[in-house]
Amino acid sequence: MAFKPSPILATRIAGLELSSPLIAAAGTAGVVDELADVMDLNILGAITTKSITPESREGNAPWRLIETSAGMLNAIGLANPGLENFARDYAPKAARLPCRVIGSAAGHSADEFARVAAGLIHCGMSAVELNVSCPNTSTGRLHGGDPESLSQLIRLVRPHVPAGKLWIKLPPDGPTVALATAAIEAGADALTMCNTYPAMKIDPVTRKPVLSNGQGGLSGPAIHPIIVRLVYEVYKNVAKAANIPIIGLGGILNWQDAAELIVAGASAVSMGTAFFVDPTIPKAVSTGLTKWCQQQGVKNISDLVGAAHVA
Ligand SMILES: Cc1cc2nc3c(=O)[nH]c(=O)nc-3n(C[C@H](O)[C@H](O)[C@H](O)COP(=O)(O)O)c2cc1C
Repeated sequence: MAFKPSPILATRIAGLELSSPLIAAAGTAGVVDELADVMDLNILGAITTKSITPESREGNAPWRLIETSAGMLNAIGLANPGLENFARDYAPKAARLPCRVIGSAAGHSADEFARVAAGLIHCGMSAVELNVSCPNTSTGRLHGGDPESLSQLIRLVRPHVPAGKLWIKLPPDGPTVALATAAIEAGADALTMCNTYPAMKIDPVTRKPVLSNGQGGLSGPAIHPIIVRLVYEVYKNVAKAANIPIIGLGGILNWQDAAELIVAGASAVSMGTAFFVDPTIPKAVSTGLTKWCQQQGVKNISDLVGAAHVA
């Protein structure tokens, strides 16, 4: 029998109804529906697609994904089928899924971002997340590195995406509160926090970087406390007052990790590395969050968003 999240977990992100606050993070759930091979997608409120670029990309050569002592280091390099192939081969599959699908858009120029964002909306995605924070390509952070560039990008993309459907994925290592402020002022409807943390691994014998790209992005438990702080700061300094929801993302492996991000200020939580560790984790997180809400005596999980800030 299909899993049904408890109604206590039903939530909204900028008006978009989700049956659960649990989301699959971009690039960790295949292009769109591959996770269905290993788990019941009814557990999730939404899946985020692999970041889609205007043209297809092979990504970087191996090694491009390695395990570390507290997470994973990847430099996949945005391997993806490209917008046209996505619209033809993957969007029809997305329409049949039991959860929402958020289209992740990437590109070199602001025009490319706008084209992909419009295309993803056109082929039925519930919202678009701009990946302005990829540490694994030469131009992946061109638009997300400083508030002014981010603002310009969002203002250019904004008219191509309907109200309520523009999410911005921030880096974990920039001036995060300033970036969040710029994104909100430029018209972002939600903030996804965050992408992987720039990192590297060197083989002491060959004395060379292990990833073919040289550097990559760290994910998993190692970055979780960093993300908790960033979500806390952005919620406190800008997102709460602007009423802009945060999707907390980084190192969630159990319900306590997810709950921690929610009380820090996240309205929903996303998971990536967890799927590589054990695809039964999302179900355990869903069950754990349900019990937590009941134990906290709330009617809905949204009543606990930012609860760590209440004196
Ligand atoms: C193998 C892999 C591929 C990824 N690909 C993308 C991507 O295409 N677009 C994107 O915005 N983030 C991508 N990410 C980053 C994740 O969406 C997420 O931000 C990051 O892994 C932190 O979450 P986690 O600690 O739960 O894994 C990728 C991460 C991994 C591990």
